[in-house]
Order: sequence, then structure tokens, then C-alpha cells
Amino acid sequence: KKIYNIAVIRGDGIGPEIVDEAIKVLDSVCAKENFELRYEDYLMGGVAYDFKGTPLPDETIEGCLKSDAVLFGAIGGQKWDTLPREFRPETGLLKLRKSLGLFANLRPTSVFDELLDASTLKPEVLKGVDLFVVRELTGGIYFGEPRANDGFTGYNTMIYTKPEIERIAHVAFESAMKRRKEVCSVDKANVLEVSQLWRDTVNEVAKEYPEVTLTHMYVDNAAMQLVRNPRQFDVILTGNIFGDILSDEASMISGSIGLLPSASIGGKVGLFEPIHGSAPDIAGQGIANPLATILSASMMLRFALGEIKAADRIESAIKKVLQDGYRTKDLANYGAKEVCSTTQMGSIIADYVSKL
Ligand code: NAD
Ligand code: IPM
Ligand code: MN
Repeated sequence: KKIYNIAVIRGDGIGPEIVDEAIKVLDSVCAKENFELRYEDYLMGGVAYDFKGTPLPDETIEGCLKSDAVLFGAIGGQKWDTLPREFRPETGLLKLRKSLGLFANLRPTSVFDELLDASTLKPEVLKGVDLFVVRELTGGIYFGEPRANDGFTGYNTMIYTKPEIERIAHVAFESAMKRRKEVCSVDKANVLEVSQLWRDTVNEVAKEYPEVTLTHMYVDNAAMQLVRNPRQFDVILTGNIFGDILSDEASMISGSIGLLPSASIGGKVGLFEPIHGSAPDIAGQGIANPLATILSASMMLRFALGEIKAADRIESAIKKVLQDGYRTKDLANYGAKEVCSTTQMGSIIADYVSKL
């Protein structure tokens, strides 16, 4: 029987609530398939600052590095918003991604037919959407130097080197080869030098993938096209900040940001996290949607552990649960036969997983 070690980072706000439900579902799937997961908890974010004085303790990095995969909830909250930047929860997450070498963040967006009415967009615009954002995660304006704020002047630097662009472009083209073979690279090359280098480099990498159709789009247009006609997109390749913004926008295609998972990969150990944050406005109320985290756990099984059948089983269970009308509050107005709490939703999915 295979045994995998999973580093678990619950984090802040709704983080612990949603991660607990993902673990419930993982335990249920383990019992059906022939493998075992061993979990080890690590601190990161505001909770790590409170207990250890730093948002990313060394033992968390070490623990992640010696595990087979990392499952992460979310971090951040008002309580820590006024700390010096080095102590902020968000800085912990950025350092963790960097320390683990996770330069590629994969953010799939599709629409469950059962939720076609859940979006603020029209169902006929959404039906069949299946897109895949490949976001560069350890470079760009998030990490560029110099950066400062002296109370009068504030600045950051959007910087990419050719090798950084090449490696993320390869991830996008490889992903496209397994999908509909289309890549749309999103940049701001009409204004930014860094984007011109991005575009030139992506064009060069594209020559290695003659079967893939490459297009380029400016980010402002892409933001508009995503809501005008999202079905036009297969793989969207973009930098760190554009990918952050466009993927939150894309979440409304699926109906709720509480549905979108992600995989952060590129290093020895992958990290699997919902795209949303710690949702302080609903933390502690038991109403957060755990599906984004459960789907992230499924991506972990698929991409990090190679447990494809287990991942398929979770995804089928989720589809069935939605078909049967179970909804958390964020989706309660749309086809809900029963509105569930976070823990009820986790338990129902775990139950369906074991019965499928
Ligand atoms: P957010 O994603 O936490 O919340 C945005 C809105 O979506 C809120 O109204 C929230 O209630 C709702 N929402 C988010 N997840 C949900 C879920 N699972 N179910 C139902 N509703 C959900 O973004 P924000 O409010 O801008 O940021 C809050 C904190 O989270 C900040 O400190 C921010 O820095 C942090 N953050 C962390 C991550 C991360 O840990 N990866 C990601 C984004 C933001
Ligand atoms: C995300 C978040 C993070 C990001 C923040 C919390 C650092 O918004 O995971 O999308 O901007 O990458
Ligand atoms: Mn984000």
C-alpha cells in the first residue's frame, strides 16, 4: 500500500474550515483506493506570526520540502494588515512559493451545467467554458527589485528574464498539447518593455510547438473578452499580477470564487490551494464553500501523487452532489434543494465518494 506524506497549512480566516473538509474527503477516497495519506500540520500566515513571530517559520519550509505535496487553505486578515510588510501573512505565502520553486500556477475554470444559472453572466455565454490559466508565480512585479515606499514615493518593478518567460511558456504549451492546442498569451506589450520581451520570447518558444495555435492579447482586452465570450479561450498564459486578476475575474464564470482550485508547481514539491483568500467577512460562520479546496486536493492527487482514479472519484462525487441540489450559501439562490454549511458539504461529498 502506498503511503504519501502531506504537509497541511490551514492558515487564517476560513482556511482551517475549508481544509478540514478537504481532508475529510481525502480520507474517504483513501479508504476506497489503495493508498494512505499521512498529514503533518505546519503554520503559515497570520497564525504563524502570532505564535512564532514570523509568517513563514523555517520548519514550515523544511516540512513542505520533505513532504510529497502541500495542501494549503488561505492566509491573511485585517489584524495583520498594518504590520511591516516582512511580517505580513501574504509575504509568508510569497516566500513559501519562492522557496519551493513554484513558478507555475495552474488555474482551471469550467462550468458545471448544474450551476449555469449561478453566474451573474448569461448561461448561453457560459455553457461549455473550459479554460486554463497558466500564471507565472515567482517573478514579475511581485518580486522585482527595487521596491519601496518612503511615504512620498512608492514603486515596484515589473521584471522578467528570458529564462523565466521560457519556462512558464513551456508549461502553457505543454498544457495546450493535452487540451485544445490553443494558447492566448496576455500582456501589455503596447506599453511595457517587460511585456515586449514576454511576447518575443513566447513567440520563440511557440516554434517548438507547431501544432499549437498561439495568439496574443493585451490584458485590458482580455479582461473584457473573458466576460464577453469566455468560450474563445483554451490556455491563457500570463504573468504574475495579470494572472492573479484575470483568474479572480474568471471565477465568476463558474459562479463563485469558492469553486476555483489551483496547483502551484515547478519545484520538487507541489502546493495545492484554492484561488480565493481567507474571506474574513464570512470566517467562523460555517458558510464558506469548501469546493475550491476539495478540488485543489483532487488536483494534488492527480498531479502530485498520480492517483488519477481517486481524483476522478472526487470530481464525479462533486458533480453528483451539485446535481442533487446541495449548495453552500454562496450558490444558494441557484437550483438549491438544500443549503448546506461548510461541514455538511464536506460530509456529503465524502459520503458520495465512498458510495460511488
Ligand atoms: P477573498 O478571496 O478572501 O474574498 C473575496 C470575497 O469572496 C469575499 O466576499 C469572500 O467572502 C468571498 N469568498 C472567498 N472565498 C469564499 C468561499 N470559499 N466561499 C464563499 N465565499 C468566498 O479576498 P479578499 O477579501 O480580497 O482578501 C481577504 C484576505 O485574504 C486578505 O488578507 C488577502 O490578502 C488574503 N488573500 C489570501 C489568498 C491566499 O491565501 N491564497 C488569496 C487571496 C487573498
Ligand atoms: C492569490 C493571492 C495571493 C497572490 C496574495 C495573497 C499574495 O491573491 O493566491 O491569488 O496575489 O498571489
Ligand atoms: Mn489572488
